[in-house]
Amino acid sequence: MELKEALYQRRSVRQYTQEVVSRETIEELLDAAVQAPSATNSQPWAFAVLRGAEALEKHSTAARAFLLPHISDDHPLSKYKAALANPKFNIFYGTGTLVLIFAKPNNIHGFGDCCLAAQNLMLAAHEKGLGSCWIGFASYYLNQPEQKAAFGIPADYELVAPIILGYPALPSAAIAKKPAEIIAWKELD
Ligand SMILES: Cc1cc2nc3c(=O)[nH]c(=O)nc-3n(C[C@H](O)[C@H](O)[C@H](O)COP(=O)(O)O)c2cc1C
Repeated sequence: MELKEALYQRRSVRQYTQEVVSRETIEELLDAAVQAPSATNSQPWAFAVLRGAEALEKHSTAARAFLLPHISDDHPLSKYKAALANPKFNIFYGTGTLVLIFAKPNNIHGFGDCCLAAQNLMLAAHEKGLGSCWIGFASYYLNQPEQKAAFGIPADYELVAPIILGYPALPSAAIAKKPAEIIAWKELD
């Protein structure tokens, strides 16, 4: 697949088949993720892979319950409050694979570096015919020390990107993107 095709055709996927993503495929995606640039070449990322659709659905319920009380009427997520209150809403959309990208401590730009790794992973997934979606709804919940401890993740690792993976049930619809807003363009002397 051409890079341009991947860049323009990748979409967040929210409907998946039951087909399981193989460990080999996930490892290839992690290898693509770590090709990302990072400040001072620190490569400050670490990955956790959580598997199992039923268990993830339980974590979805817990994550919704955790998140809802934090969403005030002027919170940026307030428009999702009704959806998050719906017991049928699975924030992981029924997938059985969740990749977590953590920033290790003491890095100058760990958050940004991990975002770059996340984009590499999502583009590589698209190239393999997989769908992906960054699940910000899971971040607050999974970043709790108890959750990290439950998965054997050091408390000082910061969750940056929770990304679901799976095989898309439907072709993705195109989304109109706003053109780049250029706020300054100066030819400097
Ligand atoms: C930081 C971040 C958090 C996101 N959180 C969620 C989420 O919790 N649930 C969801 O369905 N999509 C989530 N998304 C996906 C966005 O909704 C999606 O990227 C956006 O609508 C643009 O669509 P596209 O990815 O198909 O280009 C998130 C994306 C980013 C970058």
